[in-house]
This record gives sequence, structure tokens and C-alpha cells, in this order.
Amino acid sequence: MTLSQIVHQEQGDEERGFATLQLHSGNRPGSGVAPRATPIYLTAGFVLEDFDQAADLFENGDGYTYTRVANPTAEAVEQKVALLERGAEALLVSSGQAAVAITMLGLLEAGQHVLSSSSIYEGTRGFFLDNLSRMGVETDFVDDANDPQAWERLIRPTTRALFAESIPNPKNDIFDIAAIAEVAHAHGIPLIIDNTLATPYLLRPLEHGADIVVHSASKFLAGHGAVLGGVIVDNGKFDAERSGSLFPQLTQPARLGGPSFVDREGGRARIAYLRDVLALRFGPTPSPLNAFLINQGIETLSLRVQRQSENAMGIARWLEQQPEVHSVDYSGLESNAFHKLALRYLPDGQGSVFAFTLRGGVDAARRFVNALQIFTHMTHLGDVKSLILHPGTTSHNQRTDDELSQGGIWPGTLRLSIGIEDLSDLVRDVDRGLAAVRSGS
Ligand SMILES: Cc1ncc(COP(=O)(O)O)c(C=O)c1O
Repeated sequence: MTLSQIVHQEQGDEERGFATLQLHSGNRPGSGVAPRATPIYLTAGFVLEDFDQAADLFENGDGYTYTRVANPTAEAVEQKVALLERGAEALLVSSGQAAVAITMLGLLEAGQHVLSSSSIYEGTRGFFLDNLSRMGVETDFVDDANDPQAWERLIRPTTRALFAESIPNPKNDIFDIAAIAEVAHAHGIPLIIDNTLATPYLLRPLEHGADIVVHSASKFLAGHGAVLGGVIVDNGKFDAERSGSLFPQLTQPARLGGPSFVDREGGRARIAYLRDVLALRFGPTPSPLNAFLINQGIETLSLRVQRQSENAMGIARWLEQQPEVHSVDYSGLESNAFHKLALRYLPDGQGSVFAFTLRGGVDAARRFVNALQIFTHMTHLGDVKSLILHPGTTSHNQRTDDELSQGGIWPGTLRLSIGIEDLSDLVRDVDRGLAAVRSGS
């Protein structure tokens, strides 16, 4: 197609490129007063114009009443992330943990069962083991997460959700979304993917068969480590024929006898239920100020993630050559067991969170961390600044030795989240850490 043909084509949002969408979607200046930045509607509620308009609003839900129900600043983020993930609809909540909790609480009830990859964020694992279990929901964990048979074997008649992370941390061990989505769909249950580490710039799980995507927006989406947020994105393809009997909360008439969520929303029944029944009642409402900052962050998502992935590849390649380093778990490396999957799912970059293991165990890890000057030592990731953490003694200290070694986390394993600094400065900093390891200081 020539450029002039392209210029004269009418374009819908769906046809626009990622970089254009991350700037322009969910953020259209109207006529009259038109601030170019999305305004921060920092208000608990909205004025009801008159008696009849108030009744209308409460009847059909179109418009704004109270920020826990809907807020225009939060909606701008929801529309943007839904488009970037190629989903039908998104819901912004106050943290990634809230996104996971609200999603699972919307799908499950006492007596039911979740199947999850074992390589997941510790907060999510704790939610499954400590919180869901108290509500009568059991979770089984799949160690061999890319083996469809391993999932199939553990599915019960009561299983209502399969859960995994597209790029788990600390090990960058890529998940085969399409293969496990097939297992989920054969049983009429959804596959939920935490896409925090990949971001929709590198990977859109819904395009590979996932049904729901969750994010900690506190990480790459916001990007600057200033706020917390979470997003749930649904593919809008809930199939009531196939799965309606498994999810009666979506198919039964509303409490006061109104239409069911399926009758009202069709394929979007699941996300509508999460919005209207779960988020509304449990109340993990994002601050409009945080929504604004997440929106600003997303505007530069592709640029940051490109640079972070390039820097990560540079550091991983460099580390792989160092005698003090036993192994580097980065799927961008040809030597990595997940490299083939990375080429398939993440051709534009394999993200910037990965682990490497020092030969000298925990003493070497301590010396390395304490010597760094540019990397920040903290329990966070996806920041524009480079970060480092020792999972064995911090984020993963609730795992037994067996669980740690099963997950490939050794005493000398360190997790990196690479930022957008100059690569040469990062390499110098890592070299400083290795010098400390060598000198035993
Ligand atoms: C993959 C992943 N999912 C979810 C969360 C929870 O997000 P938040 O800290 O925003 O609650 C985190 C936090 O580190 C995470 O890494």
C-alpha cells in the first residue's frame, strides 16, 4: 500500500500502531475546554443534575455518580490498556494484588478449585494458599508448567480457573499460553495470565488464547515506581452455551430479578460482573491521581520496554561470559531452555527481569549487592531505574529449600530488573559487584 493510500484510509483504533495507541487512546480532547493531558478528576463523587437525571443514571449506569463506581481518569486508563492488550474491556483497580484477587473472587466460590503454575509471584501464591483456602477454595500448583498433560491430570470437575504468568520472575521462564489455553477451553474454563513482566508491548496473551489478563500496573505500565495500580482485561468472549453452567453467577437473574449478566452484557458478562459486583463491593478503587500517573506512564511504554529489553540482553550476554557466574536465566540467550518459546511469543524482546546465579552462594550474593552503586536494592521491578534483589532471603523466603531448588532459586541467585540507564554504566556497575565477589570484600 502506498503512503497516500494509507493516509486516505479511515482508521479505527484497532488498526492503529502500538505507539500511537499508547498516546492517543482513552484520551481524546473534546470540544470547548480541551486540556491535552487527561484531567485528574480527583473527586469522591459527581453532581447529579436533577431528580430525573439521577434516577436515569442509577437505572442505566451511563454516566458518573461516585468514584468507586466509575471515574473518567480511571476510564482513560481502562480504555487504553484494553486496546493495547487487544481485549474487549478493562478494569483499573488499586494494585496488582487487587487485580488478581478480584478476578479470582469473581470466578470462584467455596468448594471449587484453582490450578496454577508454581512459578508465580509470591503475593499471588500466598493469596491462593492463605486466603482462597480459608474460603474453601483449593489450589494445586503445576511445576512443569508448559506440559499440557501436567495440567490436564490435575483438573477436577470443580476447577474454575487456570492461572499463570507470561514471564514469571525471577527466572524469565516463558509460559506456553496457547498450549495451556487449549486445556482450559476443553473444560470450558478460563486461562488467566498475569502479563506484568511482558507488558502488552512485548506480548498480548489474549491473542494466544488467554481469556483474562491481569497486571500489576505499579511496574512497567506506570514505569516510574511512584504509584501502585492493577488492571484486569477480559477478551469479551464468555461463552454462555459452553460455560454458563459452570458460572451461574453470570447466567442467573440478578438479585432483584433483573436480567443476568449474560443477558445484559453477552460475551462481556465476566468483566461486567467483576466491575459491578466485585470491585464495587470489595472497593479496591484506584485514586484518580494514581490513574493519571499510570496513564502518563503508559504513553512511553514501548520506548521504555524496548530500551529495557536491549539493556537486559546486553547485561545477560555480558554476565554469561564471567567466570564468577554459574548461570544466567534469560530467555533471549540462545543457550536458554526457553529460547524457542521466547522467539515465538516475544520476538520483539524478552523483557528486562531475569535472574543469574553466582558460584559463590549467599556470601557472593551479599558482596555483589553491597558493592553496587547504580542498581537500587529493592523489592520492586519494571522501573526505569535498574533494580536488584536476592530472592532466596527476601521475596521467596516463604518457600522451603525444596521449593526454592525446584524453582531454580539457589543461594547465589540474584534477580535483576533492568532500567533505561546507559548500558555501559550498568555493565560497569555489575563488574564492580563481581570485583567485590572476587576480592572477598
Ligand atoms: C507478577 C506480579 N503480579 C502481581 C504483583 C502484585 O502487584 P502490586 O504490587 O501492584 O500489588 C506483582 C508485584 O510484585 C508482580 O510482580
